[in-house]
Amino acid sequence: MRYSCVILAAGLGKRMNSSLPKVIHKLYGLPLIRYVVDAGRKLKPEKIVVVAGKNHRLIKDSIVDCRDISFVIQRKPLGTAHALLSGTSLLKDFKGTVVVLNGDMPLIRPETIRRFLKLHERHKNTLSVASFVVKPPHSYGRIIRSSDGEALKIRETSSLTKAQKEINEVNSGLYAIDSTAFPLLRKIKLNRKKKEYYLTDILEVVRGRGGKTSVYCMVDGDEFIGINTRQELLKAHDILRKRQVMCFIQKGVSFIDAESVFIHPYAMIGRETLIYPNVYIQGKTRIGKKCIIYPNVRIIDSIIKDHAIIKDSTLIEESFVGSKAEVGPFAHIRPGTSIGQSAKIGNFVEVKKSFVGTGTKAMHLSYIGDATVGRGVNIGAGTITCNYDGRKKYKTIIEDGVFVGSDSQLIAPVRLKKGSYVGAGSTITADVPTNALGISRVRQRNIKGWVKRKIKINGE
Ligand code: UD1
Ligand code: CA
Repeated sequence: MRYSCVILAAGLGKRMNSSLPKVIHKLYGLPLIRYVVDAGRKLKPEKIVVVAGKNHRLIKDSIVDCRDISFVIQRKPLGTAHALLSGTSLLKDFKGTVVVLNGDMPLIRPETIRRFLKLHERHKNTLSVASFVVKPPHSYGRIIRSSDGEALKIRETSSLTKAQKEINEVNSGLYAIDSTAFPLLRKIKLNRKKKEYYLTDILEVVRGRGGKTSVYCMVDGDEFIGINTRQELLKAHDILRKRQVMCFIQKGVSFIDAESVFIHPYAMIGRETLIYPNVYIQGKTRIGKKCIIYPNVRIIDSIIKDHAIIKDSTLIEESFVGSKAEVGPFAHIRPGTSIGQSAKIGNFVEVKKSFVGTGTKAMHLSYIGDATVGRGVNIGAGTITCNYDGRKKYKTIIEDGVFVGSDSQLIAPVRLKKGSYVGAGSTITADVPTNALGISRVRQRNIKGWVKRKIKINGE
């Protein structure tokens, strides 16, 4: 079967009470439209058309990589039927099934769309609509069926009778339409009250022309939630969080408090990893097997290998943490960092755009920026790579087996060669040769009787 996909995203989203188009509002860091586009992508359609409004630039930017997407601009939001009609202008040569999705249904799952399309194909329908049951039915369009269960029409809340208001089967905003029915979109009449052309009227129009139609009631109502208000956005957050946690529990991940953990839909976590409360795993993060993630940790777009331990209140961004490595508590691993196998990054250590070798330790109060640190290095408490002169950034290279004494400043560019030592409290401005001791501090003087003399002068 040939598919194309049209995503309706040109609505103003007035109910969001926002200056931004509704579909770019974020659900766990990603715009709503991204979820819908990604679900569409999984169907491998010939074409994906996004119908965007005046703010189409913002929508494009929010999707980021849109090479596989064609955009149509619906200049005036004249309703969902008008939006789809605008979308079909890019599908003139397409023959097959068009999957239509509201751009505000981020929780829709590709497998559900596939199941729906199978029904559509099996019954050789011209038009299929996916419905679901929800109590109360909120502002969704109701499915009006005949006494023998045949779906006759869809009615929006503004034009329901008292009895129809009680109907709990509602329109989801997912449709399958055969391309031969495109001309019928023009037969939809303007809704005079709302001054919009409603796509929902297509059911009656197709039926009126003798076309085969079905409304399929899909089981999981949660995934069809349409986001019109911030309350619904909050609800979607909750559903998504629970969905993700349940999915990982089934895959063998343990949680101590599933209520406070968020795992992004693109993240992966290996078996027997243990996750404590208040943990955020964002973006395309991949966590390995048998890791422990302690409370208040946020990990963004990073790779954490097997058996790694991330201790309390640590932030890891766009970085790599090797197997058996330990990071935190209170560590900040900034983008472009690679922490080697079994390395230890401890309390109040910040690492930026640096490579840290196997087994290296920086346990306390350090800043390591733009550095390459070899294997088995010991970085003493309070060590700082001074990588910035106010204009440019410079590199620090610390070779294998180096020992940097506490409270040292390494003024980049500088290289500490293999096996060298830096004396505690040194300010290192020049390279330290292999196996040498680099030390730069004033020799200590002890002034005898100084304290007593001071007290006499001050009269204390
Ligand atoms: C729509 C359906 C309703 C269904 C509900 C499911 C219609 C008339 N009603 O209602 O039956 O139960 O979705 O969530 O279709 N859009 C455009 N151009 C427009 C208007 C809207 O592209 O001129 C887009 C919106 O950006 C949105 C989608 O179409 O992504 C649906 O529009 P929305 O205003 O959210 O419709 P609902 O009132 O939720
Ligand atoms: Ca909606």
